[in-house]
Amino acid sequence: MQERFKTPKNIANYLARMEKIGGWFSQEMARLFVFIDQVQKLNGIKGNIFEIGVHHGRSAILLSFFLRPELESLSVCDLFGDQTLNVSESGLGNLEIFRNNFLACNPNQKFPVIHSKQSNKLTREETTGDCRIFHIDGGHSAEETYADLKIASTAMNEKGVIILDDYFNPAYPGVSEGFCAFMNEEKGNLAPLIHAFNKLVIIRPSAFDIYSREIDSPDFKNYLLRWPYEMGKGTFFNHDIFLILIPSNRANRTLPYFILRRFIENYPWLKKGIKSLLFRK
Ligand SMILES: C[S@@+](CC[C@H](N)C(=O)[O-])C[C@H]1O[C@@H](n2cnc3c(N)ncnc32)[C@H](O)[C@@H]1O
Repeated sequence: MQERFKTPKNIANYLARMEKIGGWFSQEMARLFVFIDQVQKLNGIKGNIFEIGVHHGRSAILLSFFLRPELESLSVCDLFGDQTLNVSESGLGNLEIFRNNFLACNPNQKFPVIHSKQSNKLTREETTGDCRIFHIDGGHSAEETYADLKIASTAMNEKGVIILDDYFNPAYPGVSEGFCAFMNEEKGNLAPLIHAFNKLVIIRPSAFDIYSREIDSPDFKNYLLRWPYEMGKGTFFNHDIFLILIPSNRANRTLPYFILRRFIENYPWLKKGIKSLLFRK
């Protein structure tokens, strides 16, 4: 059977060595991003890509692989050298390391437009105002999250997505506070679509059917739902939301589990075999 969602070869190659780059962006998150990019391409959704919070470029480099260079651009914002302004102590951006990582991983793509400053100083023009993906992974305080969501909402286009990092992470309650303050003001202009692997995806309600149709499909489950994750559904800010979660009876993993998992990750042939056994059909 033809699979609707696939990781393109150049992206699979990048994912295989992505963890050599410092950062917090996981394989699961990367697959969620690839899925969103593919849904957009299958549905003719075009636009630029923007990221707040680069660190050493793990997620930004993945985003660069999504570009249709003749049509679209990637821009990023980070404090980079000015870490005294990193009030929520979130990551440690470094432009030189990012540049080297980018050139090593995606030398054929143009280097992104860089906005080296506090994200609350970004203007709509700098974001291009026409984004299909806007990834927020910068400062994690309530004020920073609120400001980042505000600029992202003016930057995203009609069918685009905002992806917010760490919404349910108990280490960063400010992200939840900032998001709730923002959503209470938005009153129906935006809707949460899915929470998965520590990322909350937000869309305009008019785009819900496009994405939910794909998330509800068996192809999505084959592509993204691997053990121990399960799909749930809920209501959040008066909208239906998809929830990818680990059921509580599977949540308490012990150290041997993590050691085994890390071991498996290092052997692609073993990983492939186990994956084909565990993926849902
Ligand atoms: C969690 S890291 C980003 C991780 C990255 N997305 C990855 O793939 O690994 C957060 C980044 O946000 C930057 N940052 C923190 N506060 C910021 C602010 N107010 N404005 C812009 N960037 C900020 C930090 O310098 C750091 O590089």
